Amino acid sequence: MALFEPRRSRESEEIVGSDAATRALSVTVVEKDFVARVYENIAWFYDLTFGPALHPGRVDAIQRMAIKPGDRVLEVGVGTGINAPLYPTDCSVTGIDLSSSMLEKARERVARKGVENVRLLQMDAANLKFADDTFDIVYAPYVISVVPDPVAVTREMWRVCRPGGRIVILNHFRSKSRVGARLERMIAPFTLYLGFKSDLDLPAFLVQADLKPVSIEKVNIPRIWSLVTCVKD
Ligand SMILES: C[S@@+](CC[C@H](N)C(=O)[O-])C[C@H]1O[C@@H](n2cnc3c(N)ncnc32)[C@H](O)[C@@H]1O
Repeated sequence: MALFEPRRSRESEEIVGSDAATRALSVTVVEKDFVARVYENIAWFYDLTFGPALHPGRVDAIQRMAIKPGDRVLEVGVGTGINAPLYPTDCSVTGIDLSSSMLEKARERVARKGVENVRLLQMDAANLKFADDTFDIVYAPYVISVVPDPVAVTREMWRVCRPGGRIVILNHFRSKSRVGARLERMIAPFTLYLGFKSDLDLPAFLVQADLKPVSIEKVNIPRIWSLVTCVKD
């Protein structure tokens, strides 16, 4: 089976709800400046807290992408550049991020590891400074629940992806279990200070961003993070 062969995903069988197009994606609301401030503050310990625990998902995601020689990859929210050494050396990667402190860490890492195919730029994911159809793969690892407007960011990701290219989102979404979802909603106002919303609503997000994934796979341990892959037609 081809890695990205379209297939029915379990999530797509879930009841989406009649208000999916309009309901809030999270109980929280954040502003771009707040997010930027949080990441300026946590950059120095980001790799310790969000490094190893989330790394299997990063490795899986890049393996599943099956990046080909010459592919142009955009990583949205490149952070400390933790993914940079994982990309094959024969593709070209552009990593963008809002936070100068996170980018500084990324620059240090890229230099330290001798990564030569990754360029780093400061940019807002909701306002990408690239022409339409620029990239073969547009990848957002652990970013969609961080940004104030996930739908606006996804539209930008879609715009800069070439027809036939892939949009890949790695993220935690609200649990399907009632108890889990309630807990994630309760803690969301606090997780904001660690840089993410714990309660992002996947079915509503997919409807509002007009995404029809070809696959949704669970990654990491526990398997509460999703790798969502879409093809731009
Ligand atoms: C949870 S970190 C993910 C970092 C990295 N992708 C990883 O795998 O660990 C989220 C990153 O998104 C960045 N970010 C938040 N809002 C952004 C925006 N509007 N535009 C670009 N980057 C943004 C943050 O500065 C942070 O570096």
